[in-house]
Amino acid sequence: MGGFLNSTIARKFAMALSGLFLVLFLAQHFTINLTSVFSKDVFNELSHFMGTNFFVQALLQPVLIFGVIFHFVMGFILEAKNRGARDVKYVKYNGNSNSSWMSRNMIYSGLVVLAFLGLHFYDFWFPEMVHKYVESHPEDAARYYNELVVKFESPVRTGLYVLSFVFLALHLYHGFSSSFQSIGWRNKYAKGLRGFTQAYAIIIPLGFIFIALFHYINNL
Ligand code: HEM
Repeated sequence: MGGFLNSTIARKFAMALSGLFLVLFLAQHFTINLTSVFSKDVFNELSHFMGTNFFVQALLQPVLIFGVIFHFVMGFILEAKNRGARDVKYVKYNGNSNSSWMSRNMIYSGLVVLAFLGLHFYDFWFPEMVHKYVESHPEDAARYYNELVVKFESPVRTGLYVLSFVFLALHLYHGFSSSFQSIGWRNKYAKGLRGFTQAYAIIIPLGFIFIALFHYINNL
């Protein structure tokens, strides 16, 4: 594995695959969270299923956590290598003419998303793990909705979430579309796919912003 991941192309490939996997997770995560806006019961039911299903807990969740860690560790490594390469004088940097602002700042938008995940895990994931596996409370299928909405009582936390989703959009706007290039996807569908990835990069974070603001306003 170490040897394989030693070339820039292999690293970009691995970065793209892990990114695509996280994009899939995001669609699933968004769909479940969106139900909290329409139906308390549906959200509770889906959350209870995800939180107690053996396949989800024992297989999908560890793969997801590995995917998140892998993606950001590889991101730091790629950035460090790119910086090293930029020090070589013949690589001409031309500002806007050969790369977009978003593509040059993936590390910064990624760092904001990483900081958000720190807060987000503190808010939801750690309490959930403690609740289930440390304190071993009896199952309560109706608790998820209330645990979610109290988090959006705070204007500061809601603001931080919304700001993070703007950076998530910037990160996805370049990352999602370039991931197909990195895995060598070049055919007649490439242009349509680019449109789809860019729409996804805007619509999903906007949807997350909507969910956060909905619960904040509902709590007033
Ligand atoms: C309004 C927006 C969001 C809400 C309400 C929300 C809600 C939640 C909740 C309730 C959980 C706990 C699930 C559990 O019981 O384990 C969770 C976990 C998680 N969320 Fe979010 N989330 C939001 C946005 C996001 C975004 C934008 C990302 C990624 C950039 C994200 C990444 C994660 C991850 C990685 C986990 C851990 C998944 C697990 O292993 O259970 N979330 N979120």
